[in-house]
Parts: sequence; structure tokens; C-alpha cells
Amino acid sequence: MSDICKNWSTWLKKTRFSYMNDVQIQQTLNWLMNIRNIVLDMADLNENQKIADFGCGSGLLGFGVLERFEDKVELIFSDKFQDCLDECQNILKKSEIRSNVKFLKSDVCDIKLENDYLDRALTRSVLVHVLDKQQAFNELYRILKPQGMYCAFEPIISQNTKYYQLLIPDEVSDYFDFKKAEMEFMSNPNDPLVNFSAESLDFNMQQAGFSNVEVNVQKVVSKYSPTIETIENWFITPPAPDQKTMKERFMEYFEEKKVNNYIEEIKLTLSKREIRVSSDTALIKAIK
Ligand SMILES: C[S@@+](CC[C@H](N)C(=O)[O-])C[C@H]1O[C@@H](n2cnc3c(N)ncnc32)[C@H](O)[C@@H]1O
Repeated sequence: MSDICKNWSTWLKKTRFSYMNDVQIQQTLNWLMNIRNIVLDMADLNENQKIADFGCGSGLLGFGVLERFEDKVELIFSDKFQDCLDECQNILKKSEIRSNVKFLKSDVCDIKLENDYLDRALTRSVLVHVLDKQQAFNELYRILKPQGMYCAFEPIISQNTKYYQLLIPDEVSDYFDFKKAEMEFMSNPNDPLVNFSAESLDFNMQQAGFSNVEVNVQKVVSKYSPTIETIENWFITPPAPDQKTMKERFMEYFEEKKVNNYIEEIKLTLSKREIRVSSDTALIKAIK
């Protein structure tokens, strides 16, 4: 496992930006603020509600709620990991925001809240890290009040452009071996990052008891010319603190030398042209 990423708060502050230049970092931050506003607008928030940001990380959604309502709502920052709650607590201390806030260390699959407690449950890029999505939805349903709403933004990583799709067979050695491996690990049912689709999320929510389930998928296509350094970082940046890098994933199939060779060939090939990559994201809304 890579040593550049010790925990979630480090990943959120540093690792996720490690392959980006200043312009790309700013674009990503702007994009995150936009996502935050879309999720909060969708959630139809109001004063006096009890609202939780589950898998809050450094509080993207939770601080957005506080900026809008300050102490006029009860807000819970909740995460499975203490370092994230500490991070939110530090940010809050340094801010001038008046708040009525609780910190809850809890797995979204086993939420330490009583039944029918919340008006709104929010997540952003959290279920993508949870292996048993059905259990998470069962819990989110349980802790919401009747008519309470769950709103989320989640990436559907299994639909992202794969490396082999950026290449043609003659450009790299062992193209078909690497294609087979990538197809396999990008649809692994035991990998939380890729074990779901928009349809399975919809199904899981209906099974949990939610009604008015909406899973709206947006395909984002970007075209750019990656540098050699960017391509290197694609392979060595973990997608989460507890997850293997792409290089490590390929090394479960091939010797390191062969994987290094593949990465070098990709660097040489793709750094010479513009690439087109697409990724799917889902905006999710459901009522108890
Ligand atoms: C990609 S970060 C997103 C953080 C934040 N929601 C945001 O939008 O910036 C994923 C977050 O989910 C949390 N997380 C991962 N698995 C979890 C689980 N089973 N229960 C609760 N939180 C979890 C991590 O600690 C991390 O804070």
C-alpha cells in the first residue's frame, strides 16, 4: 500500500490532489462546491430540521448546511473515522459560524442513532466506499423520520473510461492481458468502488423501503493532454486510504517488471496526444 496516504483526512487534504497542477486543483475545488450546492438545493433544507452529513470527511456538505442555516438547524457530522471528525471540529473552531452541532463516530452501515430521528440524511462519495450498500440504505432508512429525505452524490466508477480503452492493441505490449485484468478488477463484486451501478443503487433503496427514488446519472466527458507525471500518478495514487493503487491492482495479475513496462508504454503513448475520458456520477434522492 502506498505510504503517501495514512488516513481519510490526509487523503482529502493532499492525496486526491497529488496528480493535479494548481489550475486542476482549483477546478476540482470549484466542482466540489458546485456539487455541494446541487445536493443541498435538492435536499429542500429548512430551519429546525435535524440533518446529518454521513461520511462527512472534512465536512463538504455539513459546512455548506451551516453556511446556509448556522444554528437554526441541528447538524450532525458523522464519519466512521475519528480523524475526519477531528478535522471538522478544528475547522469549526477556527470559523465564526454559530452552530448547533454534534459529532458522531459511526459506520453508515450501523448508525448510532435512534429510529426516525433525522429530517435529512446526506452523503457525498461515501457509499462508493461501502461494501454492503444494501445495509447502508437500510440504516439510512431506519434513522430517517417518515417523509424524511436522503440526498446524495455518488460516482459510478465501474462506468469510467478504462486504460485499455485509451489505447489500441499495437501501441503497448500484452495489450489483451492487461485489458482482461482491468476488466476483471473493475467489476469485482468484492470491491466497494466498483460493485454497483445506478440500477443497483435504485434497487437497494427500493428494497430498504424508500419511495420516490431518483437516481439521475450524468456522464461527464473531458478532453485533455496528460503529462508523463500525470500518467505516473494515475497508477500510484490510491483511490482511498484503504484501497490498492492501479499499479498494485495490476500486480495481482502480473510481475512488477511487466506492470512497470506497461505503465512506461502508456506514459510514452498517451503523453503525445489528447485523450477523451468519461465518468458517470449519480444524483440521488429518496423519501422514507
Ligand atoms: C471521498 S470521502 C468524502 C468525504 C466528504 N463526504 C466529502 O464530500 O468531501 C469518503 C468519506 O467516507 C467515509 N467513510 C468511508 N466508509 C465509511 C463507512 N462505512 N461509514 C461512514 N463513513 C465512511 C470516509 O471516512 C470519508 O470521510
